Amino acid sequence: METRAWKNVPFDYPRAVPTMLAEEEKRYLFWLGRDAWDGNGLVVEIGPWLGGSTVCLAAGMIASRKHAHGRLHTVDNFLWRDFMAARAPLPLQNGESFLPYFQENVEPYHDLIVAHTRALPDDSFVRDAERDAKRFTEDESVPLFDDLPGSEPISILFIDGAKSWRGMRHLLRVLAPRLQPGKSLLVCQDFKHWTTYWVPMMMARLEGLVEPVHDVRGGTTVAFRLLHPIPTTTLDTLEDSIVHVPVLDGLGLIDRAAGWLSKDGDTLGAANVSLAKVRFLSNVGKNVEAARVFEEIQSTWPSRRDVTQVVMASAFMRSQIGHDIRRPLAIRLTWQWQKLVGAWRKHVSRRVYA
Ligand SMILES: C[S@@+](CC[C@H](N)C(=O)[O-])C[C@H]1O[C@@H](n2cnc3c(N)ncnc32)[C@H](O)[C@@H]1O
Repeated sequence: METRAWKNVPFDYPRAVPTMLAEEEKRYLFWLGRDAWDGNGLVVEIGPWLGGSTVCLAAGMIASRKHAHGRLHTVDNFLWRDFMAARAPLPLQNGESFLPYFQENVEPYHDLIVAHTRALPDDSFVRDAERDAKRFTEDESVPLFDDLPGSEPISILFIDGAKSWRGMRHLLRVLAPRLQPGKSLLVCQDFKHWTTYWVPMMMARLEGLVEPVHDVRGGTTVAFRLLHPIPTTTLDTLEDSIVHVPVLDGLGLIDRAAGWLSKDGDTLGAANVSLAKVRFLSNVGKNVEAARVFEEIQSTWPSRRDVTQVVMASAFMRSQIGHDIRRPLAIRLTWQWQKLVGAWRKHVSRRVYA
């Protein structure tokens, strides 16, 4: 897998645009638009939020000097959720549209962008209050995403808004006919995040039809190239909800996805993907198993590597499951060190930009 090509691209991200992306992911998206997009086919973005990923892709497409007018399609329900205020303190209530803020942020690229206010269906988990708070609920009045206008194929599909197994399945069913074998990239922003287990699970289900090609080591993004058309029967037979995925199958899929990364030397990425088994087990009501798997993963965490996700998972275990698992010393020390470095960086950047 490619891990470096985008690292040194000269891209000046507009700091006023809020984003949930890591620094390396911004550069990666710029590089995708500039170098991986050949000017043929659309770039489609699912889940632009306030336009952070949009401006990275758009700036790259402009830098490519290919004809980019109207070629970047963005899809989002554009519905504000309270948790978003931690990243962007906007005067919006839960459920209000943030589309005007998106449009203002992407204004310099408006002639490239076609925005679609559409929703993906979601699974709802009574056992996961945190995730439910981030979800769109069925009674809200945004139309379902069921197509893109025209018939142009998709070269790059950036996915950052498929927030459930059901949403991911629906997205693939809608867009698979527009993907081009041997060419299209499926860029999964949530692949290495422990909460979004359906992403590695789904890509492992498509093994043989897709191959992992880019691994953004400083973020959670992994991209796949489509090798063969995804047969309609494959998509039709996918379970319509995560609760219908047999537990052992689900765990096996996550292990397979983690294996792609460890084989490629991304031990931290593989550990983060493995951690997704904990959230999966808990969401399907298997908390005892979730605790056992968590302890196992925590005790073999790669030494001196980022512990953010394992610390988040232990907080989840405590608050949602009531299971208090002691953190090993190595994880506690690394976490303290990360907090110190984070505070120092914040201090320095405040001084630079003051
Ligand atoms: C993590 S944010 C994306 C962050 C963004 N790409 C960035 O660069 O900062 C996820 C986005 O997906 C959207 N989203 C979540 N669930 C959705 C659904 N069911 N249908 C449509 N959009 C959804 C949210 O509104 C949000 O804008």
